[in-house]
Amino acid sequence: MARQFFVGGNFKMNGSVETIKKIVGYLNDAKLDDNVEVVIAPPTLYLLLAREHLKPGLQIAAQNVFDRPNGAFTGEISVDQLKDSNIKWTLVGHSERRTILREEDDFVAAKTKAALDGGVSVILCIGESLEEREADKTIEVVTKQLKAVSDKISDWSKIVIAYEPIWAIGTGKVASIAQAQEVHAAIRSWLKKEVSEEAAEKTRIIYGGSVSEKNCKDLSTQSDIDGFLVGGASLKPAFVDIINSRL
Ligand code: G3H
Repeated sequence: MARQFFVGGNFKMNGSVETIKKIVGYLNDAKLDDNVEVVIAPPTLYLLLAREHLKPGLQIAAQNVFDRPNGAFTGEISVDQLKDSNIKWTLVGHSERRTILREEDDFVAAKTKAALDGGVSVILCIGESLEEREADKTIEVVTKQLKAVSDKISDWSKIVIAYEPIWAIGTGKVASIAQAQEVHAAIRSWLKKEVSEEAAEKTRIIYGGSVSEKNCKDLSTQSDIDGFLVGGASLKPAFVDIINSRL
């Protein structure tokens, strides 16, 4: 069975009431490829605003979630709160959280488990730094990040893996098609060996890092690239072209 193409838009800490409504408006008005699953991740404060205005069929993700139930955790949001707000996806382990907020593999894995246990699907972000790539450690790093998750969960059916080389994020320096395909294929082999043949066949592995309307078509032709996680370009009308990259 073919994997459904998946395009996520991570707004990061950008937007206002006015601009979020505007971006949602572009998406609502555009003719989007029906075969693509589209999920946008506005900042927490605007999740419900986006939910209220986004047309049916397009989905919303949180950019982060905590691994504990409701309680005394100032500044965090819980899986139950996402569900209560009809938010069915969350990003977990984005490299900005791993590096700036110092989230370790184990914590990312605990959040992944909490989300899945609570019925919220996960866009699990992994990726290597420039230093790690230059030291030829890319596969080692991404498989270590994945192993932390597979130590805690066995069902990968509600996970989309986002491979985002840190050196390509927000830099305009997109991974070459060969570099991206090579890592995606290695992730799929890892899934086959460490999880199951079914997980390897069915899990969407999407690419993130300076994806634009100019490079998305070429990247989308690769057999192991099942979509994109888009940062900067998801705030612009070009996001529609990226969603429609396979048309
Ligand atoms: O989550 C999205 C990625 O961090 C990519 O961001 O498209 O601005 O490079 P970017």
